[in-house]
Amino acid sequence: MTGPGAELREETIFTWGAPPLKFGAGATDEIGFDMSGFGARRVLVLTDPGISALGIPQRIADTLRRYDIDAEIFDGVHVEPTDDSMTKAAEYARVQGPWDGFVAVGGGSAIDTAKAVNLLTSHPGELMDYLNKPIGQAKTPPGQLKPLIAVPTTAGTGSESTAMCVMDILSMKVKTGISHWRLRPTLAVVDPLLTMTLPPEVTAASGMDIVCHAVESYTARLYTSFDRKEPEARVTYCGANPVSDLWCEKAMTLIAQSFRAAVHEGAHDVEARTNMMMAATFAGMGFGNAGVHIPHANAYPIAGMVRDYRPAGYPQDEPMVPHGQSVSLTAPETFRFSFDSAPERHLRAAELMDPRAERRNDPREQLPSVLVELMRDIGIPNGIGGVGYTEDDVPDLVPGTMKQQRLLATCPKTPTEDDIAGILTRSVENW
Ligand SMILES: NC(=O)c1ccc[n+]([C@@H]2O[C@H](COP(=O)([O-])OP(=O)(O)OC[C@H]3O[C@@H](n4cnc5c(N)ncnc54)[C@H](O)[C@@H]3O)[C@@H](O)[C@H]2O)c1
Ligand SMILES: [Zn+2]
Repeated sequence: MTGPGAELREETIFTWGAPPLKFGAGATDEIGFDMSGFGARRVLVLTDPGISALGIPQRIADTLRRYDIDAEIFDGVHVEPTDDSMTKAAEYARVQGPWDGFVAVGGGSAIDTAKAVNLLTSHPGELMDYLNKPIGQAKTPPGQLKPLIAVPTTAGTGSESTAMCVMDILSMKVKTGISHWRLRPTLAVVDPLLTMTLPPEVTAASGMDIVCHAVESYTARLYTSFDRKEPEARVTYCGANPVSDLWCEKAMTLIAQSFRAAVHEGAHDVEARTNMMMAATFAGMGFGNAGVHIPHANAYPIAGMVRDYRPAGYPQDEPMVPHGQSVSLTAPETFRFSFDSAPERHLRAAELMDPRAERRNDPREQLPSVLVELMRDIGIPNGIGGVGYTEDDVPDLVPGTMKQQRLLATCPKTPTEDDIAGILTRSVENW
């Protein structure tokens, strides 16, 4: 390489991307108009059975039909999708296709499934070709995908603006995903009124996902601390940067205002629901470019190796640890571990999420105590013990975390196996 910058080894460039956003009460009713703007004539609406029973996808299909778009509904999305469930959804879409566009209606499970279906019906290849290495081949999507409008019905994942989809690989008991900018939805339509029916347990878990997205990416390694990349090697997650920081800070402020109210008064508190939906979108725009670290890396084995935990508020047909619970359980202990690497950012996060919190003598305890108090108030299980693990399980959980090297490398203080074992052990109970 020649030219300016050739001699630089430290990264000087960050990237930031997000889809256009339509936000607000009633935004869902405009989806027919929005999809017609993409020229689509035949559209598949993807959702899960629980959301289908609420009638939301049917309403969206009606708005599409008003614009002469032929709309069909697939309501077979699996809550916390697997390679198997995504392959089945893609097979359905292939057999019933071709489609000119997709609408994903639901939480991260439906939106992530729609991203995979869009990829697998727009281009040749199977899931394994595109999944992240070492599980898959990490093949680059060869071209543009079809228009995808993402309509979140949970306030949590931010998947409507991120460039990835996540799934359980059943045969290996691991979670992995596909990560490429082409997976980003074409438009995010975020309507807070869709979340009024969320059960308190889902509100709490998906809200903790927002918290972890915001705090993990706010405390992530700075983009300048990575080695300089060639243009073709640039990654979606480039480390904490000034633009992502802004979105994360605002998300934390909204959490402080409205998280508890959304859990406890969510059935009628439109303002709390609106703030939480905004927090989810904002955090998605932050972490979706900066990246997350240890709590999300630990969440993979915590969810993947579940034995018999069945959380209230979720489908009861199989054991599961919802994503939002799994990411939050080791967060307090992680932020004790990472404190030294960026003390001012940890303190600022605590201040934004609870401006009235009592000041701890040991500053390292400030952020963990704010998180623990919040988790107790909203009914999150008490540590990994609360979802069925004991100290004896820690050696089995550690390798699952260590496989998430991409996430661990985003922590400003890269953890060793012993560090992870210590974090998990001290997270068996959080209070
Ligand atoms: N792609 C990303 O960037 C990203 C980020 C974080 C998490 N995820 C993934 O997202 C998934 C979790 O998504 P989630 O937390 O949004 O939950 P979810 O999509 O799994 O849904 C959880 C439950 O809530 C129900 N539900 C959803 N909306 C409802 C509503 N408005 N009213 C009543 N019930 C409703 C669903 O039917 C389901 O039973 C995980 O698979 C996780 O790995 C993806
Ligand atoms: Zn998450």
